[in-house]
Amino acid sequence: MRLHIHTFLTCLLTLLNHTNAQQSQSPLTSPKVPSPQPYRIAIIGAGAAGSSAAYHLSQYANTTQHDLRPLDITIFESTSHIGGRATTVNALSDPRYPVELGASIFVNINQILFNATRDFNLPSNDRIYENTGSSYDIGIWDGQTFVFTLPNRDDTSGLKGTLGSYWDIAKLLWKYGLSPIRLRNLQQTTISKFLRLYSDIFPFKDLTRAASAVDLLDTTGQSGTQILSANGISEKFSREIIQASSRVNYAQNLHDFHGLETMVCMSTEGAMSISGGNWQIFDRMIRSSGAKLNLNTTIAWIQHNEMLDMTILHDQNHGSYYFDTVILAAPYNTSTGSSYSKPFISPEPPPIQKVDYVSLHVTLFTSPHRPSPSFFNLDSTDPQSINSIPDTILTTLPGPLDPFPLGRGESAVGPSTFWSLSTLRVLHPSTDGFESIPSTVSSGHIPLENLELNTTQYLYKIFSPAPLSASFMRELFGWEEDDTFSEHGEDREGGRKSEDGISTLPNDLISWSYEKTWNSYPYLPPTREFDCFDMYGCGREDDEENSEQSRGQDSKNEQSRGQGYEYAQNDMSGRLWYTSGMERFISTMETSALAGRNVARLIVDGLERDARAKEMTGMEG
Ligand SMILES: *[C@@H]1O[C@H](CO)[C@@H](O)[C@H](O)[C@H]1NC(C)=O
Ligand SMILES: *[C@@H]1O[C@H](CO)[C@@H](O)[C@H](O)[C@H]1NC(C)=O
Ligand SMILES: *[C@@H]1O[C@H](CO)[C@@H](O)[C@H](O)[C@H]1NC(C)=O
Ligand SMILES: *[C@@H]1O[C@H](CO)[C@@H](O)[C@H](O)[C@H]1NC(C)=O
Ligand SMILES: *[C@@H]1O[C@H](CO)[C@@H](O)[C@H](O)[C@H]1NC(C)=O
Repeated sequence: MRLHIHTFLTCLLTLLNHTNAQQSQSPLTSPKVPSPQPYRIAIIGAGAAGSSAAYHLSQYANTTQHDLRPLDITIFESTSHIGGRATTVNALSDPRYPVELGASIFVNINQILFNATRDFNLPSNDRIYENTGSSYDIGIWDGQTFVFTLPNRDDTSGLKGTLGSYWDIAKLLWKYGLSPIRLRNLQQTTISKFLRLYSDIFPFKDLTRAASAVDLLDTTGQSGTQILSANGISEKFSREIIQASSRVNYAQNLHDFHGLETMVCMSTEGAMSISGGNWQIFDRMIRSSGAKLNLNTTIAWIQHNEMLDMTILHDQNHGSYYFDTVILAAPYNTSTGSSYSKPFISPEPPPIQKVDYVSLHVTLFTSPHRPSPSFFNLDSTDPQSINSIPDTILTTLPGPLDPFPLGRGESAVGPSTFWSLSTLRVLHPSTDGFESIPSTVSSGHIPLENLELNTTQYLYKIFSPAPLSASFMRELFGWEEDDTFSEHGEDREGGRKSEDGISTLPNDLISWSYEKTWNSYPYLPPTREFDCFDMYGCGREDDEENSEQSRGQDSKNEQSRGQGYEYAQNDMSGRLWYTSGMERFISTMETSALAGRNVARLIVDGLERDARAKEMTGMEG
């Protein structure tokens, strides 16, 4: 699940249809009544949250029973593409081989993404990947040895290497005793609590209260290590299996990673992805919302004008736009820095929590070679040992789960030095799909002139806390040291210098590569406090008593929160919404989409209240 990119060449976005929703929609009640002013909504960010907000605003407005003001939705996106952290690049710069650079899977309990895939009729997992010949789908490597391997099962779903395939394996049970069953029970309880956020708790202005009402605050309030041991799940199982999953999905170890996200990591049953890229879900959402889309537009300043009672957005070219309400659907960077990371907001809202994002290095590359058995301490004299290297290699720490404060990134990764290494596909560029070699195969990051395109290529993806060095790759693949490229093979630090980067390797070793470092998801230490969706506060202080009562108990009166719950209002209520607070609760495409849907419902609820009030006055007058 879950990752990102900005530079972006290949997804040609056919952005048509910016038809103004309200033009076709505004109901002409009677010739005497002037048509109502449209309600103007800005959405900053065209990722999962922003696209979902646009889509659901349109859907709720289309199905309302009330005479709403027509919605006029405009999306601003600083990059040139839709989808945010869900994005693809083409391996070998060839459109036949799109590969997810970021968020790669979602699961079928992810109702918003699952339903959108169905409703937009998007093709999922239709590729049947050829086997590499390896005897193992998954291996878990601690830097010394494979602590666990899962034999190849000829799975044709195209989603090998997801932990979901663990569950039907009896092997787990004899190796780990009752721990897998206990985990499964804990997971099912957690999922059913989480699903209440879609139904009886929905919508919610205050995520902290919603989490409390569905009894998940104790899950986010403890670390993975704590919650697993409290539920009788062995340290061995936690380290060898669950921590491998938290590392591949979130680049974090369990000791400082909260219990809810730990459960999410293991919930990969029914994993799916969209052929050609998950970004298409968000593209379709935006198109069907009828929202206007401004790509390459960075909002630098959000300013509320009291006199006009409008919020004005200023972009990087000093353009200004006027709105009734604004949804900030991008991480609001609390560190000082560029205007993009932190748009200036006036009046200044109450502080939101500081979120540190993981800096994840993604390396995609193709090579005619397969990794070296000796790198994995396998017998390299045995010609069969090449097939003992699993297609997907996840990693964990060799030591106990909670030995000492490990730090983050490079100081957390341990002896393996990388988070994961996956063989995604076997490519046959001269024959796959076409009779002849397409002329498009020419512009990889490494010139392809010398590449013999009729050789089989393996497509790999490595997640690591730092850029990979050429010397690491030589070690991994057992390539002979070559004076021309690397002076000191041992010098890992050199990986950060471009002269030892992987692009210095010759084409016959690495035929194509693409590297990307991005802020993929937040660090997720245990927490019991989340930001409000309304950036100017969810009125909790004025409501301390209610909030104290509701905490920790599954109270009935919390159930109708969306409709009946009284929030303290202030002058700025409902002017500026923020979706990224959701990420510290659960950071996935689905939960971001849920945050967008939630804000959409809160906005339409507000408009329905206004419409009802107007209907009432109308009757009196
Ligand atoms: C809402 O209705 C309009 C007009 O029929 C349509 O174009 C739009 O796609 C609908 N929105 C959604 C989300 O279905
Ligand atoms: C956005 O910028 C990119 C590159 O900077 C450019 O290729 C693309 O055409 C631009 N898109 C729009 C809609 O302006
Ligand atoms: C998804 O679709 C199912 C079946 O139509 C429906 O029951 C469910 O409410 C939908 N969920 C969402 C979040 O739209
Ligand atoms: C936040 O801004 C700082 C300073 O500009 C930058 O170094 C950091 O990468 C940004 N973080 C995110 C998540 O954008
Ligand atoms: C690839 O093509 C070249 C030239 O057409 C040919 O000489 C070579 O034998 C081919 N290699 C393979 C593995 O088919």
